[in-house]
Amino acid sequence: MAVHPVSSSQPVLESDSSVFFKVATILLGLTVPIVCFFALMLWADARDAHEAVAAQPFAETHAAGHNTALPLNSFAGIVPPNAQALAEAHKASDAALPPVLAGDVAKVKMTLKDMVVQVAPGVRYNTWAFDGHGAPGPVVHVREGQTVEMTLVNGGAIPHSIDFHAARIAPDLAFRDVAPGESFTFRFKAIDPGVYMYHCGTKPVLAHIANGMYGAIVVDPAKPLPPVDREYVLVASEWYMDADGIKEPANLSMEKARTVQPDWTTFNGYANQYVTHPLTAKPGETTRFYVVAAGPTLDTNFHVVGTIFDRAWVNADMKSPPQQGVQTVLVPAGGGGIFDVKVDQPGLYPFVSHAFAHVDLGQVGLLKVGNPKGTMSH
Ligand code: CU
Ligand code: CU
Repeated sequence: MAVHPVSSSQPVLESDSSVFFKVATILLGLTVPIVCFFALMLWADARDAHEAVAAQPFAETHAAGHNTALPLNSFAGIVPPNAQALAEAHKASDAALPPVLAGDVAKVKMTLKDMVVQVAPGVRYNTWAFDGHGAPGPVVHVREGQTVEMTLVNGGAIPHSIDFHAARIAPDLAFRDVAPGESFTFRFKAIDPGVYMYHCGTKPVLAHIANGMYGAIVVDPAKPLPPVDREYVLVASEWYMDADGIKEPANLSMEKARTVQPDWTTFNGYANQYVTHPLTAKPGETTRFYVVAAGPTLDTNFHVVGTIFDRAWVNADMKSPPQQGVQTVLVPAGGGGIFDVKVDQPGLYPFVSHAFAHVDLGQVGLLKVGNPKGTMSH
């Protein structure tokens, strides 16, 4: 009798087990086709979507809100309707080389300021600017052997620094970050003549340079260069904007900066300013251009239309003789060059980065020799 319950319980157990397996089998049998069905549907959906995207016009698939895809929204050439009047009213950045700072120690003080500047007619941008000048910062002009005493006052909202390419100095000490509200002074001896870039070296450097933190320092050689009649400093740079800057100031588009898609390129921070307000020379005079390519990323292929450089200190190498009779010279991002040109015939001589996309975006100016009639159509 004791066995019975066991024997009677065994079929019960067998029966439970077999029901379980039967149900499981049925469920599995149903699940497999269902899963297959959905997988097939998903694959078909994905293929349809892909084909639909491929068939769509390019612009529709890159609508606003999808700016991680290339190309990014460009604001190149977008100016208000009264742009010409604004360009004429704009006071062009003074390109004339300032005098050499006096004394054995050239004292330079820059107070950094966050400010709105115009980068093209009616196009405003929120910069981080050295010394309230906007971009570029002031030209520093010293002579070989002089000591430069640099004081940076940080009047901005975040840490900044200043890196002089003309200096031989430990950057971790001299080019260190200065906190907002603080100031920092360091000295270096200018022993290498040339024209150099200076810039903020705080990370991410791309953002700090792109926001306008750059400028030029000219170090005259102890043995003077041949005398010239005019000396101009041009700092080439590009702007990467997150908006057109017309209704309200634009900010940096880091995506565009990373992918090198500038909205504007300039000499001395403002597109085409020396087309509207040309630099000048008289016929027969020699003009010297000190050119720095600040970037943050683009080089400048410096060329003056209608003439040839009589002397070119390529890479601002003042220790070698200048090249003579050259047409276009690469000024690399973060580098400089010095160019002498004697123009005899009156006329309008455009100076450009001969990488012509840069001209289209605003990196062009005019050297007006004498008093030519008419305007430049080039
Ligand atoms: Cu900075
Ligand atoms: Cu640098």
